Amino acid sequence: MPDRVPLVAANWKMHKTIEESERFLAEFLPKAPASGPEVVVCPPFLSLKTAVEHCAQSRVRVAAQNMHEEAEGAFTGEVSAPMLLELGVDGVILGHSERRQHFGESDGALCRKVPAALSSGLEPILCVGENESQRDSDETEGILTRQIEADLANVADDRLSDVVIAYEPVWAIGTGRTATPEQAQEAIALIRGLIEGRSGEAAAAIRILYGGSVKPDNAAELISQPDVDGALVGGASLDPADFAAIVDAAS
Ligand code: PGA
Repeated sequence: MPDRVPLVAANWKMHKTIEESERFLAEFLPKAPASGPEVVVCPPFLSLKTAVEHCAQSRVRVAAQNMHEEAEGAFTGEVSAPMLLELGVDGVILGHSERRQHFGESDGALCRKVPAALSSGLEPILCVGENESQRDSDETEGILTRQIEADLANVADDRLSDVVIAYEPVWAIGTGRTATPEQAQEAIALIRGLIEGRSGEAAAAIRILYGGSVKPDNAAELISQPDVDGALVGGASLDPADFAAIVDAAS
């Protein structure tokens, strides 16, 4: 069996002020496990510093939800890897479907963002996934193949296992419609196979998460699938008790 440490990440999206972030962490951190799965919280930019400070004495790490691929420049409204690193941030979600859908995030940008995150020392959590009409017309495999090939094109084979991939079927995000454990396993095995095409070693080591309506009552079954290495959790990560229960399910 491959020795992959499960990872559970909280994607708060555009939720929680600084004060609300502090309140969440005051309640969640005492429940966070002292060993076992890695836990990452991904607050909005403005709460990152507070989150890093609160998590400093724990094993919980902090990641951002987006970054620009350049270190600095005339890119109004953007944030770069050095700025995140200065705060003590550890990683960054890249290519979330909401960014692809609402903000024009493209594979062309992602193939620059993923290596930029890696070379600056941030752990990228790269999101991929098909939408409902693509699944209905049997395009899932083609979509995942295109996204994985394009987004990781500029990552050297020996750095592939430093990327975390999140398979997030768009039709399951925020809808309460979870992929079945079999659907999650099948898609994630396919992604692992694509990585294997580049490096067997990386395929055995890379962590691939499932995301899309993960809740305390379905997390254990999803995460126990052989290729599923954890979860990227949206809605249910906003509540400290629910998120703690999902982390427990990965233990
Ligand atoms: P959800 O979101 O858990 O609310 O479906 C998951 C995500 O978008 O990462």
